[in-house]
Amino acid sequence: EKGGYDHFMLKEIFEQPQTIFDCLRGRLDATAGTITMSGIEKYADELVNTNRIVMVACGTSWHAGLVAEYIFEELCRINVEVEYASEFRYRNPVINKGDVIIAISQSGETADTLVAIENAKNQGAIIFGVVNVVGSSISRASHAGAYTHAGPEIGVASTKAFTAQLAVLTMMALAVAKKKGTITEQRYQTLLKELEAVPEKVSKLLKSVDGIKALAEKYKDAEDFLYLGRGFNFPVALEGALKLKEISYIHAEGYPAAEMKHGPIALVDETLPVVFIATRDSYHEKVISNMQEIKARKGMVISVINEGDEQSISLSNDVIIVPEADEVIAPMLSVIPMQLLAYYIGVARGLDVDKPRNLAKSVTVE
Ligand code: F6R
Repeated sequence: EKGGYDHFMLKEIFEQPQTIFDCLRGRLDATAGTITMSGIEKYADELVNTNRIVMVACGTSWHAGLVAEYIFEELCRINVEVEYASEFRYRNPVINKGDVIIAISQSGETADTLVAIENAKNQGAIIFGVVNVVGSSISRASHAGAYTHAGPEIGVASTKAFTAQLAVLTMMALAVAKKKGTITEQRYQTLLKELEAVPEKVSKLLKSVDGIKALAEKYKDAEDFLYLGRGFNFPVALEGALKLKEISYIHAEGYPAAEMKHGPIALVDETLPVVFIATRDSYHEKVISNMQEIKARKGMVISVINEGDEQSISLSNDVIIVPEADEVIAPMLSVIPMQLLAYYIGVARGLDVDKPRNLAKSVTVE
């Protein structure tokens, strides 16, 4: 049932070329230049005209919401907020008629997310579900939605569901941007082609795991990790830290790379591994200068970069190379080494990576 892999988590990480492909299939046609999503068609006017989108989720799904915030704001010019379901639900949030809530959930059963959308629905919001489990409570409580089609996720730590969430949310943003006219034809066509190329790039990336295994051996005894990124890769830093905490029980924090100066930099010494998600994008130079700041304080820099990035290479103790992609698409690739690093460190520490202590696959109690 683990298909020859030692753990479900590893199997699910390796399934990602296929699950992303399945998620795009029948929706994205880069040759024809079309995205077909029935839920979007049904609420096209509401999505195009809304003043606000609120992403509501927990954990890894909340990280997908954060990436989507950057994507929707960039491509659709719509104001986006990203909320922890547990906070949103209890604080009497301002909801106006016509607000669109996008609930993101692998299981579709997370109690806080479910109640949050039920409350918002009663106040006139339109609820859009981005859910993996077909027929689940959140999918049923939504007005419309798009399934992520990642197949059953058994490993407690979410992996393939996350990249499928990103694929769905990116397609949604592109479809809305096209209808709204907030994207140029050229950029739209480019991003469609980039999305279509993701499964192939993920396959390529998964062929280079030996290097990550070796890194896991090298860093497995660290007591803390810092994960830093900016822009579209900032949520990937958060996700990297969450994966490591869950699977290896090593304390880790994710931060926007520039925010580090406002406190966490005090932690940096020669024993601290700092993972930079530093693929080439519009933030790249800024990230490099943050890398220099860590290097100057003798932190151990592990950077996730694109090929030929000599500047990052010269500042790093170790590098992980990922295929180049448009910055909107990059998180789907850069998150994969984060999943693998957590996995291999967990295994190197002799832990039960499929069932980490204290965690449940779906949190149906608040
Ligand atoms: C992390 C993880 C959790 C879930 C969170 C939300 O690896 O699995 O943080 O992402 O409990 O679950 P869903 O997406 O089912 O609502």
